[in-house]
Amino acid sequence: MLIPQIDKLLGANRLLISDIDNTLLGNPVALKELITYLQSSEIAFGIATGRSIASAKQILKEWEVPAPDLWITSVGSEIHYAKDIQADISWSEHISYLWQPELVRLAIAELSGIELQGIEGQRLHKISYLVDPIKAPAIIEIQSHLRSHQLQVQAIYSHQEFLDILPIRASKGDAVKYCALKWGFPMGQILVAGDSGNDEQMLAGNTKAVVVGNYSSELEKLRGKPDIYFADGHYAQGILQAIDYYKF
Ligand code: GLC
Ligand code: MG
Repeated sequence: MLIPQIDKLLGANRLLISDIDNTLLGNPVALKELITYLQSSEIAFGIATGRSIASAKQILKEWEVPAPDLWITSVGSEIHYAKDIQADISWSEHISYLWQPELVRLAIAELSGIELQGIEGQRLHKISYLVDPIKAPAIIEIQSHLRSHQLQVQAIYSHQEFLDILPIRASKGDAVKYCALKWGFPMGQILVAGDSGNDEQMLAGNTKAVVVGNYSSELEKLRGKPDIYFADGHYAQGILQAIDYYKF
């Protein structure tokens, strides 16, 4: 049933997975060069974003990016494939383990300076908030508050502004590992690209990684780690530099 839309995922021996906002998108000239390179190569292409699938589809269309072979959306809590956007139901089932969204919302409501995002930020396996960095507790305190309520979740902070609560098994990094296994890509044949906090787990995994030049300060702690290349180039220019650096 999956063939032939996913033929690139099956046939390719390398996989590039990029965050969308401030990583893939931002520099139209470099983006065009990257797309041309990917189309002439044997590299399968995926995105990994905080956006919902509908919003990812929309922004890629606006920037004239061809449909990716792999869509990791809502901070890794949803996976879809190819142009016809087939949902990976197994992933959804896998991450639903220990997920208690009602209890998460109640526990977070006890804290100050943290407001729910609008309806478009809320998904089956993702609860997202806007954080006031002055009024809200530090991320580490938020995490221990959730643990004290026996809630096993991932709490991910980005751009000193966004807080995403996901099931314990879900993150962009976990979604990348699942896809590597599912589609038979060795971790060393995958290059991931990102710029901010919700990319951290994915960048710190066992794949090759690039942090683009315009990165957000929460990623500074990844500097010097093996196989994490800090590019000078901003946006897609940084990804192009990494392809060159890793001879990908
Ligand atoms: C995107 C999502 C938002 C999330 C943020 C950080 O902006 O729309 O819900 O909080 O990414 O992951
Ligand atoms: Mg980003």
